[in-house]
Amino acid sequence: MSPTLLIVANWKSYFSFKQAQAFFEQNGPELQKLTGPKLQLVLCPSFESLFLAQPWCKRSGISLGAQVCSSYAAGAHTGDVSALSLSQLGCRYAIVGHIERRTTYHESDKQLAQQILQLFDQNITPILCIGDTLKEYQEGSSINALEEQLLPILKILNQEGKIHKKILIAYEPFWAIGANKTAKSKDLDHVFASIDRFLAINGLINYGLLYGGGVNEAHAQELKKSNRLQGFLIGRASTDFQSLKKIVSCLIEHD
Ligand code: PGA
Repeated sequence: MSPTLLIVANWKSYFSFKQAQAFFEQNGPELQKLTGPKLQLVLCPSFESLFLAQPWCKRSGISLGAQVCSSYAAGAHTGDVSALSLSQLGCRYAIVGHIERRTTYHESDKQLAQQILQLFDQNITPILCIGDTLKEYQEGSSINALEEQLLPILKILNQEGKIHKKILIAYEPFWAIGANKTAKSKDLDHVFASIDRFLAINGLINYGLLYGGGVNEAHAQELKKSNRLQGFLIGRASTDFQSLKKIVSCLIEHD
């Protein structure tokens, strides 16, 4: 286990702007309890709330992250938000290739690699999501599925001479996202050992491994038994301040 555990709160589109505002007003004074020497919180609200979140995060020692980023630096790309804007808003991290983006918006491997390159240019750490379906998990073909998602992106990073840059890789089983079930720590040990081997062969050495999918206070402790795990990506449970606090305190207390 890395000495500092990273908790990435992916708020998705759960909150409207006003609900996000209410979250900060209600919980702002307690936010700094969610971070410390052993645990770093990264808050990823939706775009419209980044500006709102920035002062609260700064005051509380919380890092700010985005849920997505444009594949382009600037120009005629309606609806896109550039990595430069994310950086100007104070983002230090950005999620790339979440399954909800891959399926709804059909973001291609090339687009995901372009997003990562844009983020590198702004010194924002990409959090690349990969995952397996329930069928793949049950058939024992999860590792193949994960490698197929990683390889085209690694190739592009290699071609662009950026394979040495720091990246976080989040294993998020599709069957666990938004569900009340998660992988087990022994699944993570197996997946992470395979990913370690695969990344070493393909020249990626500067990376961290996260897990996401159905994480709540009941599961976090068991998952943390995986030695290679460096943090969590938490969706629904992170929008409830009391749940988030419970997850954080159980992870710190049992460290
Ligand atoms: P969940 O979402 O914690 O609600 O399962 C995690 C994610 O999709 O990143």
